[in-house]
Amino acid sequence: VSVKTKSLYRCQSCGFASAKWLGQCPDCSEWNTLAEEAAPKTGAPRRALTEFSSELMKLADAAADSAERRPTGIGELDRLLGGGLVAGQVVLLAGSPGIGKSTLMLQVAEALARSAEAGPILYISGEESAGQVSARAKRLGVEHGKIYFASETNLAKVLDAAAKVKPAVWIVDSIQTVYHPEWSGSPGTVGQVRECAGELLRAAKAGGAVLFLLGHVTKEGELAGPRVLEHIVDTVLHFDADSQHLVRMLRAEKNRFGPTSEVAIFEMGERGLREVADASAFFVQGGGEPLAGRAISVALEGTRPILAEVQALVAPTRYPLPRRMVTGLDPNRTLVLLAALEKHLKLHLESKDVFVSLAGGLKIKDPALDLAVCAAVLSSVREAPAAPDRAFIGEVGLLGEVGRVPLLSARLNEAKRMGFKSAAVSAKAEQLPKGFTIAALDKLHGLPGALA
Ligand code: TYD
Ligand code: MG
Repeated sequence: VSVKTKSLYRCQSCGFASAKWLGQCPDCSEWNTLAEEAAPKTGAPRRALTEFSSELMKLADAAADSAERRPTGIGELDRLLGGGLVAGQVVLLAGSPGIGKSTLMLQVAEALARSAEAGPILYISGEESAGQVSARAKRLGVEHGKIYFASETNLAKVLDAAAKVKPAVWIVDSIQTVYHPEWSGSPGTVGQVRECAGELLRAAKAGGAVLFLLGHVTKEGELAGPRVLEHIVDTVLHFDADSQHLVRMLRAEKNRFGPTSEVAIFEMGERGLREVADASAFFVQGGGEPLAGRAISVALEGTRPILAEVQALVAPTRYPLPRRMVTGLDPNRTLVLLAALEKHLKLHLESKDVFVSLAGGLKIKDPALDLAVCAAVLSSVREAPAAPDRAFIGEVGLLGEVGRVPLLSARLNEAKRMGFKSAAVSAKAEQLPKGFTIAALDKLHGLPGALA
């Protein structure tokens, strides 16, 4: 008897399923994202993603997971992971092509392999040949005998390789290139990605191994296809950077085993990714002559204060509509700040182009930088440098009021460590450290006085 397999249309963006084809996905409103995929054979048992015991017990009596951390040996990454990897942890490492995912994973493999008690590590690449990966590995100094490699896209063969090696750490580069031989659809489609990830996850968890899945994101910064994976993995790490800069910021967007607000900072060099442990010194070049249009602030990335340099250039425009360009900061927020400056300080910016950026390729969305943005713009308009040893830390509201920011004392301590002697902060701020000159601002009106 021939069984007619019923097909299903699945949105490649959000995973929505429909019995018939639709031009627009009713779930995520994307156009032309529905693609045909064969429905799973009826009668085939649906496997669960996680195999926990369903025994009923009192929560108070349940034994807590003794999450033993295995540090990777890469300090920045360990901090991001909350101390290291946990057995059975599944990590999705996402980022745009060329950002450094494969490079980071090779370095992590080497660092892990070096610890004496480490088990074998299996690196599966569906993107590059053994020759390509080995050439890069040599350049990075990755040569440890515990690292096994296979260039493979067939999931069945990947699982075979894992059965042989019994790895303590699996790396699958990338999840979009692996395909399930019994599942229709080309690699990278939602169905394939979900099924492959599910199989890998079960196999890795069963062996108590750590699984790294590498995934590409689209231009819009969304995980194409693998977005459906965010729910089933334990940790989502996201590489965030524009390719013009060598700075690579790795953020934890989800973490079942640690904090999510942390960020690890790396610099891409000839020998791979290098940790940037002292971010403040890296992003703010101290000394030098005071320059108009420059203001320093202290941003908070997770729990870590980082000095950030805001640069502004205000110049006469040649266009009927003056230009506004913002890099590294939230553009909309910056436009609001410019409007607040025009209104409250009577700055005439309507005939001026305004460019605002964060130095060093840093990308930060911390409202505490507001005051530094205002100071940098004001300094450029007046062609008068801001005091070089002063940090500007405060949120600026629509009404021109300077507001408090969280963890001010941690920020001020960081500024002090970097040789700053004074700070302009909100007049409402409490608990200011001693030995620091404070210019307390209530409103933007006070900023010109606090500039120099
Ligand atoms: P890669 O790790 O291949 O990115 P992904 O896996 O995310 O696609 O990184 C590729 C880029 O990094 C490439 O443009 C070259 C650069 N690179 C260096 O600058 N130095 C190095 O040591 C390595 C290995 C790569
Ligand atoms: Mg790669």
